[in-house]
Amino acid sequence: MSKILMVASEVAPFLKTGGLADVMGSLPAALVRAGESVTVVMPRYRGVDAPDFYRLREDLPVWLNGFRHRTDIDACDRDGVRYLFVDAPWFYNRDGVYSSGGKDWGDNHIRYGVLCLAALAIAREIESPDIFHVHDWQAALLPVYQKSWFGGDPRLMRARTLLTIHNLGYQGQFGPEAMGELGLEQRLFDAGEMEFHGQVNLLKGGLVASDWLTTVSPTYGREIQTPEYGFGLDGLLRARSGNLTGILNGVDYRDWDPATDRFLPANYSPEELSGKLACKRDLIEYFGLPPEAMERPLIGIVSRFAEQKGFDLIEHIAGALADEPMTLIALGSGSPHWENMFRNLTTWRPDKFAHWIGFSNEMAHRIEAGSDIFLMPSRYEPCGLNQIYSLKYGTPPIVRATGGLDDTIEEGTGFKFHEHSPDALLETVRYAIRTWFDRDGWQDRMKRGMAKDFSWDQSARAYQDLYSHLLTR
Ligand code: ADP
Ligand code: GLC
Repeated sequence: MSKILMVASEVAPFLKTGGLADVMGSLPAALVRAGESVTVVMPRYRGVDAPDFYRLREDLPVWLNGFRHRTDIDACDRDGVRYLFVDAPWFYNRDGVYSSGGKDWGDNHIRYGVLCLAALAIAREIESPDIFHVHDWQAALLPVYQKSWFGGDPRLMRARTLLTIHNLGYQGQFGPEAMGELGLEQRLFDAGEMEFHGQVNLLKGGLVASDWLTTVSPTYGREIQTPEYGFGLDGLLRARSGNLTGILNGVDYRDWDPATDRFLPANYSPEELSGKLACKRDLIEYFGLPPEAMERPLIGIVSRFAEQKGFDLIEHIAGALADEPMTLIALGSGSPHWENMFRNLTTWRPDKFAHWIGFSNEMAHRIEAGSDIFLMPSRYEPCGLNQIYSLKYGTPPIVRATGGLDDTIEEGTGFKFHEHSPDALLETVRYAIRTWFDRDGWQDRMKRGMAKDFSWDQSARAYQDLYSHLLTR
């Protein structure tokens, strides 16, 4: 058994804006089932609370630039995992997690620097791990601080560091003054360390300082070593390719199974599919779509509205889609441009398009279940979870063959297109719509997807093997 201390900016069910939270809410428990001991550290943002929270430590000091920041450590224990919450209201008790009114908090580097330092303080004073497993740029400073500040502290230096890249598109970049504000030595502001085009790049710092790197699918692990997908860090990733592994995410079927899903108006399974029709009817009525929509395939989208997700392609083909025998429902929020696009489509053709702008876990489940086809035309996708959920919900996905989408979807369970182009997408959507009208063939396709198993056990074993490898190196 190894002792793993994970650090991340979001963890379901406590706080979620995307798939990172789903992973952080399920991988630790899978590791515990496999015999590891896991503690997870995240910020105590506004609203992060539950009846089983208790205070583990009063006033664990975090020093930064001669300032003593007070942090209290709250905790709860679930599924054998200990979750620790860094309570520092000055930094985390705000009306947005990463931003407010569309603008990132100007002190995000300090907020996440404090998170990493608090995790190191926990390791020194509360429980010392064998492995620090940190996720994305928000936790990437931990290995940097470990090596540059605590090189002389054997309790901290014994631990190996593993950084998981969930999305290379988000690197945490700040002006050069961030070096001083983070108390980091000027020598680290170098192209071989954390300098990147004149900025301080926190993810890059972690990519250089960590003992090992992983990302969330084998294909994305290869893609990020190319200029097309590398966001300028492909050279560094190629140089570290001997210490970089792609491990596919799993999913938690306790939360995502149509047979038990508590958000659905009716449950269903591969043996008894009738509940799925009830879910479709519920969605169509809820969104005020015409009853004829029951006779056409319903295409669902649940997504952050970000550049990465390929909405530019949807924008190009929306006019043509309206002429197809289909209906489309989109749930999401993010870029005002894509929010407005869906609002405009609904105003233009309320018989063909519907939307929900915002974040609703319940609606995400209802759309997974009530749709016939799920749409994910991502420009890039490190892993992607919704396409895996949609397999389980008997909602064959249309995906672009990239990253984890390529690794999880086959022609027999969904529909893939390769080139990032409107024509390629439109052709594939038309093919999927035609295929839907062949009812028997469609049910076979649904059932093949529903039979797929992407539970965590296998991926958790891959992480375990990597931890052991790191500890014996
Ligand atoms: P990413 O992490 O890039 O956003 P993933 O597919 O890995 O993409 O995970 C997204 C997760 O966030 C899924 O669980 C999905 O259901 C959820 N999600 C995304 N947008 C919304 C939304 N608007 N409302 C509710 N859940 C959402
Ligand atoms: C990121 C990626 C997504 C992945 C998720 C969890 O947000 O965009 O593809 O599934 O992290 O690893």
